[in-house]
Amino acid sequence: MKRNNLLNGLIAVLVFIAIFGVQSCTGPEGPAGAPGKDGKDGTDGTAVCATCHNSSTDLASKQAQWALSKHGQGEAFMSANRKECAACHTTEGFLETAKTNADTVQNVFLSPTTINCRTCHNVHVKFDNTDWKLTSVDPFKFRYDGKKTDVDLKDANLCARCHQARPLSPGIDDTKDSVSITSFRWGPHYGGQSNILVGHSAFSLDGSTLPSFQAHQTINGACFKCHMTGPLGTIVGGHTFNTAFYNEETGAKTVNTAGCRASGCHTTVGGTGKNAWDVDGGTKVTEMYRDILEIRKILAGKGWIDTTQAHGNPGHDYVTNIVNGKPLSATNPLKLSTFEAKILANYLVVVKDKSLGIHNPKYVSAVLKQTLNALQ
Ligand code: HEC
Ligand code: HEC
Ligand code: HEC
Ligand code: HEC
Ligand code: HEC
Repeated sequence: MKRNNLLNGLIAVLVFIAIFGVQSCTGPEGPAGAPGKDGKDGTDGTAVCATCHNSSTDLASKQAQWALSKHGQGEAFMSANRKECAACHTTEGFLETAKTNADTVQNVFLSPTTINCRTCHNVHVKFDNTDWKLTSVDPFKFRYDGKKTDVDLKDANLCARCHQARPLSPGIDDTKDSVSITSFRWGPHYGGQSNILVGHSAFSLDGSTLPSFQAHQTINGACFKCHMTGPLGTIVGGHTFNTAFYNEETGAKTVNTAGCRASGCHTTVGGTGKNAWDVDGGTKVTEMYRDILEIRKILAGKGWIDTTQAHGNPGHDYVTNIVNGKPLSATNPLKLSTFEAKILANYLVVVKDKSLGIHNPKYVSAVLKQTLNALQ
């Protein structure tokens, strides 16, 4: 009330000045002119909003799918609002670093948000369908090794900028004999998918060149052509970003093969092999998984990795936390020869990609074969 009275007073004073103040220095008012033409009716102010906010389920379905996705539900963002993590774990950090092209953000964010519509789309910019344009599809440089290979996955750069391996720390230096690993998190971090897709991040162990090129990297929008095609409710595909889903009670796996078939490249998925992802009657995915488990067994036997946290999913394996009966630390590192460290790195880049080799079967098959040979 008080504020209103004050405001009213102020307005009265301004009106007074406007009328008398201005009149006092101009001449008398002339005769009134003819009335102007009627203006055109304006557009309905909410019509523009109804492009998206309408009774259709276009927007609602995406929201429902996203809400159940790991982008929407994943809690890593809470622990990862740090200068070196925010670029990939918060919307604010992603949008800032997509502009600055830096690996770290300038300051941490007071109220960070998860990966949401605004990370990937220009929400409320032009208020029309052009707002669905993807926020950042610029090519960028990989962080993984000093070489910082240029990558251009076109529209999939959006996904790849975040889903890329982080540098090994310490790195593997060919001019040195050994590597001292001091953290159980040593490896490419969790999201090295784009490195695998383009055949980058594993080490050749026999001097031959690994076959990096593979058809999957040439699909424009690669990541989302497989992960977002053909949604099945809020379980797989679309804005759930999931290609597979496990029933919590029965453990049964539901896979979304729409992407594999949409490309026109694969006619049958779920071939004669044991893996739901084998295509065209082949057994490549089954074989890659067999090799992964074989290497895993050997590395666990050597005491290099800890498989007990993984609940059966090698993607969640870590470097061992115990060396010579004592906790792994800077003073009690896991000391491996440079060659052994490459073997361990190869295992980690393959399993942390979590696609069972599907992102780049040619490359991953070769990496697994070389790694197995090196261990035998
Ligand atoms: C091109 C599509 C589009 C248009 C046009 C559009 N919106 Fe939105 N709006 C969105 C999206 C996407 C969101 C985010 C939804 C989410 O976060 O789940 C949103 C969210 C909102 C929200 C929730 C609060 C927020 O900001 O997240 C409000 C309120 C809203 N819009 C109002 C409007 C109004 C008013 C207009 C017209 C002036 C409008 N919108 C036009 C797409 C649109
Ligand atoms: C801003 C960075 C960022 C962008 C952009 C991004 N992601 Fe993610 N994505 C993440 C993070 C971080 C997680 C894990 C979230 C968590 O656990 O909190 C994740 C999770 C996922 C998962 C689930 C992984 C699992 O372990 O279940 C899939 C699948 C995925 N993203 C695919 C995509 C695709 C496809 C795109 C492009 C359309 C994309 N992402 C764009 C950062 C990003
Ligand atoms: C280059 C981008 C990038 C950076 C930088 C990054 N992350 Fe991630 N992180 C990801 C992606 C992508 C995923 C999800 C990948 C997946 O599920 O396969 C992820 C997953 C995670 C997870 C979830 C693991 C799980 O499966 O539940 C945690 C925890 C995490 N990150 C913590 C951090 C922390 C802490 C930092 C900073 C020290 C950090 N991240 C820096 C991209 C990044
Ligand atoms: C991780 C990135 C990412 C996030 C988060 C995301 N989207 Fe998308 N969205 C995409 C991509 C990529 C496509 C294009 C998919 C394709 O072409 O197959 C898309 C397509 C769409 C489309 C269809 C656009 C068109 O041109 O017809 C709509 C609508 C949409 N998203 C809405 C949303 C809404 C609403 C949210 C938040 C609830 C959201 N998206 C969150 C990446 C994302
Ligand atoms: C050729 C199809 C295809 C392409 C292209 C593709 N993916 Fe995948 N992706 C898959 C399949 C299939 C899986 C394995 C799902 C499973 O666990 O059964 C997978 C697994 C993943 C996972 C782990 C999901 C989980 O639940 O553990 C992430 C994260 C991911 N992909 C992100 C990406 C990103 C980012 C890109 C682009 C750089 C990409 N994918 C390109 C098909 C594809």
